[in-house]
Amino acid sequence: MPSRKPIRVALLGCGTVGTEVVRLLTDQAADLTARTGAPLELAGIAVRKPNKHREVPADLLTTDAEALVASDVDVVVEVIGGIEPSRTLLLGALRAGKSVVTANKALLAEHSAELFEAADGSGADLYFEAAVAGAIPLLRPLRESLAGDRITRVMGIVNGTTNFILSGMDSTGASYAETLEEATRLGYAEADPTADVDGFDAASKAAILASLAFHTRVTAADVHREGIAAVSAADIAAARGLGRTVKLLAICERVTGDDGQESVAVRVHPAMIPRSHPLAGVSAAFNAVFVEADAAGEMMFYGQGAGGAPTASAVVGDLVAVARNLVHSGRGPRESAYAALPVRPMGQTPTRYHISLDVADRAGVLSQVAAVFAEHDVSIAAVRQEGRVDDASLVIVTHAATDAALRSTVDKIGGLPVVREVVSVMRVEGEES
Ligand code: NAP
Ligand code: HSE
Repeated sequence: MPSRKPIRVALLGCGTVGTEVVRLLTDQAADLTARTGAPLELAGIAVRKPNKHREVPADLLTTDAEALVASDVDVVVEVIGGIEPSRTLLLGALRAGKSVVTANKALLAEHSAELFEAADGSGADLYFEAAVAGAIPLLRPLRESLAGDRITRVMGIVNGTTNFILSGMDSTGASYAETLEEATRLGYAEADPTADVDGFDAASKAAILASLAFHTRVTAADVHREGIAAVSAADIAAARGLGRTVKLLAICERVTGDDGQESVAVRVHPAMIPRSHPLAGVSAAFNAVFVEADAAGEMMFYGQGAGGAPTASAVVGDLVAVARNLVHSGRGPRESAYAALPVRPMGQTPTRYHISLDVADRAGVLSQVAAVFAEHDVSIAAVRQEGRVDDASLVIVTHAATDAALRSTVDKIGGLPVVREVVSVMRVEGEES
C-alpha cells in the first residue's frame, strides 16, 4: 500500500450530491487509496444546519465553510450550488493553491474565467465533470480525449426534469401543467422548477459545453434560451402526426459565415426531432449528448444526468484525478479559450421550422400564405393540409431560415384575414435541411 500522507478533502455542502460523495469516499476508501496512491481523508463538511445531518460523522460538520477552506486541506469539493458563497469560497481555495472539484454549473457558466485565472495563478486544478450531464463522462472527453480534433457540433438533452415532462406529455397526451404537477409529485421536478422549465439550467450547461468544444469563453448570457412552458399538447400532437417528438435541446455549433469568418451559435429551446432520431428515444430523466468532430465523426454520450449517486460518481472521479495529480506532481488541463470565436446572435442563426396554422378552407389561401414566406426569403420544404367543414389545418415545414426572417414571416401570416390562428411554431432539428 502507498505510504504517502493522506490528501485532505474539504467538502462544501452535504445535500443530495454531498451525502453520496461521503458515502462513496467511505465505502470505496481502500480502492480509492490504491487508485490514487494516497488515502483521501475527509477533513470537514460545511453545511448550514448541522443538526439535520445524522448520516455523516458529527465531528466533521461545521457551519464555517470559510475556515474549513482556509484550514490545512489539499482539495475543496463544492456541492453547495448557486453563485455565492460558492464563488468566494472557491476563489479563496484556488488562490491558496488548493485544487477544486465542483458540480456547480451556474457558477461555471458565469465565472469560469476568474476561477481558471485563480487556478492558473497558483497552479491548482479545477475539475467540474458533474456540472453537465451528471454521471456521464462528457467534459473530460471534450477537454482531453478530443483535444486533437475539431469539434463542429454538440447537441443534446442535458436537463432531466424537462425531458421527464416532455416524454410524459408525448406518451399521455396530457397538458404541460398536468405533467409538471405529476413530475413534482414524483420528485422529478423541484418545488420551484423555474431553473429547469425555463431553460436556465440547460443554458448554463450549454455555455460550459460550447466553451470546451470551441476553445472560446461562452457564458450563460451568450446562450439563446427558451423553456418548455409554452409547449402545448397541440404542439406535441402536431409533432406526433408528422412522426416527430418534442425535446428541449442544447445546441452548440461552429458556424462559418459567407465571409469565411467562424463563430459559435449556442441555443437552448424545444425542438421537434424525428422519432427515428437517437435522441427521441431518450426518455424520463436521462440525458444524452451528440458530439460531431471532423476526424472522430459522430459520438453519443448517454446516461443518468442527475441524482445523488450518479452525480457523486462524477465528483469522486474528479477527486481521484486531482489526487493523482497531487501524488505525481502533475496538473490537469487549464482553460483553453485561445480561439476566442465571436458568438453569433440568434437572429442570424439558421434553423428549420414547423408552423401549424388554422386557416379558412377556400381557394387562394395557400398561395397567400406561401407568398408571405417567399417575401421573407423563407423557403418551404413541405406543406400538409387537413380540411374540416369550412376551415383547415395547414402545416408548413421550412428549409433552414434565420430566426429573424422566420419571426417576421410568422408575424405577417398571423395578420392575414384568412389565417384564424397560428397554432404552433417550433424549430425542427435532426433532419437534413
Ligand atoms: P442540495 O441538496 O440543495 O444541497 C446543498 C447543500 O449545501 C446542503 O447540504 C446545504 O446545507 C449546503 N449549503 C447551502 N448553503 C450553504 C452555505 N452557505 N454554507 C455551507 N453549506 C451550505 O443540492 P444538491 O442537489 O446536492 O446540488 C449541489 C450541486 O450539485 C449544485 O451545484 C447542483 O447544481 C449540482 N448538481 C446537482 C445534481 C442533482 O441531481 N442534485 C446533478 C448535477 C449537479 P444544509 O443541508 O445544512 O441545508
Ligand atoms: N435539475 C437538473 C436536471 C439536475 O433536471 O437535469 C441536474 O443538473
